[in-house]
Amino acid sequence: MIKLEPYNSISKTESLIAEAAVQYGPLSGYLGGESKGGYYVEKLEADWCETFGCKHAIAVNSATSGLLAACVAADIRQGDRVITTPYTMSATAATPQFLGAEVVFQDIETSHYCLNPANSVLTDAKPRAIIATNLFGHPADLVALRTMNKAILIEDNAQAPFAMQYGKYTGTIGHIGIWSMNVHKHIQCGEGGICGTNNDGTEPKCNAETALNKVTQHQRKTDHQDATWSH
Ligand SMILES: Cc1ncc(COP(=O)(O)O)c(C=O)c1O
Repeated sequence: MIKLEPYNSISKTESLIAEAAVQYGPLSGYLGGESKGGYYVEKLEADWCETFGCKHAIAVNSATSGLLAACVAADIRQGDRVITTPYTMSATAATPQFLGAEVVFQDIETSHYCLNPANSVLTDAKPRAIIATNLFGHPADLVALRTMNKAILIEDNAQAPFAMQYGKYTGTIGHIGIWSMNVHKHIQCGEGGICGTNNDGTEPKCNAETALNKVTQHQRKTDHQDATWSH
């Protein structure tokens, strides 16, 4: 067996930028109300929008938090049905379930092992949302999935930055997309994620800009009756 040597993927340039961010001062603009990042976090969000072609991008502490923000933005609640793939990382299904939704697993196709849009469960189940994972760098059939049942399409794009479909980057084709910047991902910062959207709130309740605020409002509840949001 080939032994893979550990290596540090963080370049000198990245070290210098990290140093500049620390020297800059305020790392976060979060002051208990609106969630805003510090200068470098806002710059990351703006650069992300420009690079991937989405109108809004919010930096979060993990793609799991991004999925949760996306589910909150899509107004997924107790009793809603959410369709997703069984062949993914656990957070894809755990986040809608966390909000009380019924998660229905759907078959995958046999070429790239992503959600198969040509299946009767998708057309019959009337889901509130479909969460499609772009697996191992390959897109699910997002265009087909986006038009199904008027459901909100959330793209779990944790594993597929820079993948494209019909000339658009994955993560921007569904109503909301998430990216992971965990240490083992293509673009990493130790732990981190992005939740992005092209929606301005004109389509059904999925303006990701308001999502994070909704999440933090939950977080600030003192009774924590429905869940602990302290991640
Ligand atoms: C498909 C998929 N979704 C979600 C996640 C969660 O990402 P994070 O570790 O940033 O929370 C991962 C990470 O492994 C993933 O591969």
